[in-house]
Amino acid sequence: MTAASALRLVDLCALDEVPPGTMKMCEVGDDLVLVVNLSGELHATQGICSHQYFELDKGFLTGGSITCALHLSRFSLADGEPLDPPAELPLAVYPVVVEGGRVMIEVPPGPLEVNR
Ligand code: FES
Repeated sequence: MTAASALRLVDLCALDEVPPGTMKMCEVGDDLVLVVNLSGELHATQGICSHQYFELDKGFLTGGSITCALHLSRFSLADGEPLDPPAELPLAVYPVVVEGGRVMIEVPPGPLEVNR
């Protein structure tokens, strides 16, 4: 079995729940995943900031990045890297698959990767 075939699809929400320019927090077990629709391009990141415990859906979309509302670190939605202090750790980002009107992430089995 190859590593790729071991990946699983995790259903997050309906595509029409996340119109372009919006974001939505989704629960995956005990974890939260933030789904962002940037002009039709879907991204998924860990839902909690990598700096302290704060929900990123309370922040704002700033172009191709998300700004955490607590201490205003910006993170790239492409790779999760912090663009401003105080955050130093990247957000975990998950590959998105859109199929049949559903938004899913393709991740290895087991707990989601989360940086904190
Ligand atoms: S909790 Fe997000 S920048 Fe501090």
